[in-house]
Amino acid sequence: MLFEPYQLGRITLRNRVVMSPLTRNRSTAAHLPTPIMTTYYAQRASVGLIITEGTAPSADGAGYARIPGLYSPEQVDEWRNVTTAVHAAGGAIFAQLMHTGRASHMANMPPDTRVVSSAAVALPEPMFTDADGMQPAPVPHALTEPEIAVVVREYATSATHAIAAGFDGIELHAANGYLIEQFLNANLNTRVDGYGGSAANRNRFLLEVTKAVIDAIGADRVGVRISPHGVFNTMGAFDGVDEQFISLVTALGQHGVAYLHLVNHASMGAPAMPEALPGQLKTAFGGTFIASGGFTGRAQAEAVLMAGSADLVAFGRAALANPDLVQRLRTDAPMNAPDMATFYTPGEKGYTDYPVLTV
Ligand SMILES: Cc1cc2nc3c(=O)[nH]c(=O)nc-3n(C[C@H](O)[C@H](O)[C@H](O)COP(=O)(O)O)c2cc1C
Repeated sequence: MLFEPYQLGRITLRNRVVMSPLTRNRSTAAHLPTPIMTTYYAQRASVGLIITEGTAPSADGAGYARIPGLYSPEQVDEWRNVTTAVHAAGGAIFAQLMHTGRASHMANMPPDTRVVSSAAVALPEPMFTDADGMQPAPVPHALTEPEIAVVVREYATSATHAIAAGFDGIELHAANGYLIEQFLNANLNTRVDGYGGSAANRNRFLLEVTKAVIDAIGADRVGVRISPHGVFNTMGAFDGVDEQFISLVTALGQHGVAYLHLVNHASMGAPAMPEALPGQLKTAFGGTFIASGGFTGRAQAEAVLMAGSADLVAFGRAALANPDLVQRLRTDAPMNAPDMATFYTPGEKGYTDYPVLTV
């Protein structure tokens, strides 16, 4: 089943293996994609769908060193090399739009930008900068309602850029404690205006962004990634989290979003989600559902598909370390181990040099 095609909106995926979004920090300091990124993604094009690393939809959202953006014509031109190579190799590719919000440092960001969030509360973890190593995270500016409307439009413009760059669609990164989850999460979002104070108000920012990108590029080209109960970037569960996310994904389903991508970071040490929650979210959403987190082999992925628990299965670290992941899954071949030391470092080492099987 894992190797059967799957119709996702207007594109046919050649198998049900998805490459999870993986930040690799191989862009330039000015957030431009580089030629080695073309090599890296083309090497992995045999998966059914590549979801790119988190990519900033606006200059304010480019808070990490050397992450790519999709907010300037130059970035569109560089990304076109990537999408052309992936399509030439028979693959499909969505861009993950990641606005880092308060998980940002000015030293990493373009000029004339600012660190923003739902609330003026600094990320209580240090941020890595190329210039000065680890630095305390700055106190973000809490976006006003008119400023939120501008950010919503930036997402829509960026989605249009993604299509112009040749992407098959975009994934909204609403997981892992970045800007959108900074609105969803009640531990941080203590706003008392239309974007906080109730589950519906905390969900509002994501739903407005979703509507704007759908209007710009079409619902079948928009996926959403969520991580209820995730703890990355100091998030964490809050009272009513399950009910809030169930009503959120119900609305996403009504908008006709192409897929829901559920992050399960128990494989990375996060607390387990309530056992029933993934099924409840899948049912409430009603469309294509991607399971991710902790997948390393074929039998495990097949079992999830056979049980009807997901339509597609995403591999993160396994795809990072195995350019020929699909072939290895097919043949139950041993996997290369990921090298954590080179996850975020510049250059080809630990990036484009993972070995492929020689048959
Ligand atoms: C190096 C690295 C970078 C990551 N970058 C992103 C990212 O940009 N966006 C995202 O949604 N998740 C990101 N993640 C999380 C992965 O997409 C995935 O959820 C996680 O690795 C668990 O899946 P796995 O067990 O298959 O690796 C990253 C994970 C790793 C290891």
